[in-house]
Amino acid sequence: MSTVTPTSSAVSIAPLFEPINLGAISLPNRMIMAPLTRARSGESRIPNDLMLEHYVQRASAGLIITEATQISEQGAGWAQTPGIHTPEQVEGWKKITEAVHQKGGKMVLQLWHTGRASHPDFQPSGALPVSASAIAAQGEIHTPEGKKQRVAPRALRLDEIPGVVEQYAIATRNAKAAGFDGVEIHAANGYLIDQFLRDGSNQRTDAYGGSIENRARFLLEVTAAVVTEWSRDHVGVRLSPYNPFNDMRDSDPIVTFTYVAKALNPFDLAYLHIVEALPGHFLALEGVEPATPHIRREFKNPIILNGGYDAQTGAAAIRGNEADAIAYGIPFIANPDLVKRYWQGAALNAADPTTFYTHDAKGYVDYPALAA
Ligand SMILES: Cc1cc2nc3c(=O)[nH]c(=O)nc-3n(C[C@H](O)[C@H](O)[C@H](O)COP(=O)(O)O)c2cc1C
Repeated sequence: MSTVTPTSSAVSIAPLFEPINLGAISLPNRMIMAPLTRARSGESRIPNDLMLEHYVQRASAGLIITEATQISEQGAGWAQTPGIHTPEQVEGWKKITEAVHQKGGKMVLQLWHTGRASHPDFQPSGALPVSASAIAAQGEIHTPEGKKQRVAPRALRLDEIPGVVEQYAIATRNAKAAGFDGVEIHAANGYLIDQFLRDGSNQRTDAYGGSIENRARFLLEVTAAVVTEWSRDHVGVRLSPYNPFNDMRDSDPIVTFTYVAKALNPFDLAYLHIVEALPGHFLALEGVEPATPHIRREFKNPIILNGGYDAQTGAAAIRGNEADAIAYGIPFIANPDLVKRYWQGAALNAADPTTFYTHDAKGYVDYPALAA
């Protein structure tokens, strides 16, 4: 960005443009593209040229975190989302990572198992989805046949858990083969790992339920398996202490997630990514004490913060040492050149929510960039 003179507003947002190392991954700036499911992979779930174009357009982000990517057939829970469990999917991603790297970008893959947020319509042989406990999330789910009521999942048996942990390990090996710079373990937003972490969805009475030590066990086992496949400085974890999405709740989020952050310290990870939305945001739980300051005090490595940030609030969070980097979701959907726009203090394109999860180019690769 050095050839452009920053505007006066860009000077106040200077912290966003400082380079940073997240473990082994060197970022030229601290504006990270948040993971964004966009359902453009087609029924095959193989990453394609349209997705390549979308990610290449956004390669100036300090780091791209891919959309949630299922680690197995069992992990799938949305229509037309990509996977990382077949050779064809690895090849598809490889083209994307190569193209993003050619543009100077960096990219990690978000490892996703949806657990109870899935539906028999997405499962092999129409099986029940699996979770920590047989507790249904309330509400409806979009299936290829339209909206349906969510179902109660099947609680994973103790003897099945190592096999699910292994799914994360294999997917990590595949992500490495696909040329990514690392992986992010999706432990947020009400998907499988989060279903173990929070007591609203975990009522197990064995070694994986009850105390927070037990509820964190699955995440810690997954993390141990992932860092065995790829060194710890290529691995991040995403958490969302309060996010109610997918009908999630915990009786004491600050205690739960501060414990989790502390328990992750021995892994010496590249980063911890926290979804904790600012007040008024669609993911915010209002009137609660933020968990991030507690997590920040305990967690030793870099923290990425996300949820409703703009240039000013993001820069202020870095300057105030609340976070080391900021992830932007919707701003990156609508502004492929968000980094340049913030740098120049330029106006932003508005996002069109009606095309967030549609399946074609509209609203995906046609948001304009500033003139060169
Ligand atoms: C269309 C859309 C898709 C999303 N997909 C994912 C996803 O795949 N994985 C994930 O962890 N979060 C996902 N999120 C949450 C975003 O990563 C982010 O937490 C949220 O948009 C708040 O950040 P923002 O205010 O900067 O947009 C999604 C959000 C949106 C709007």
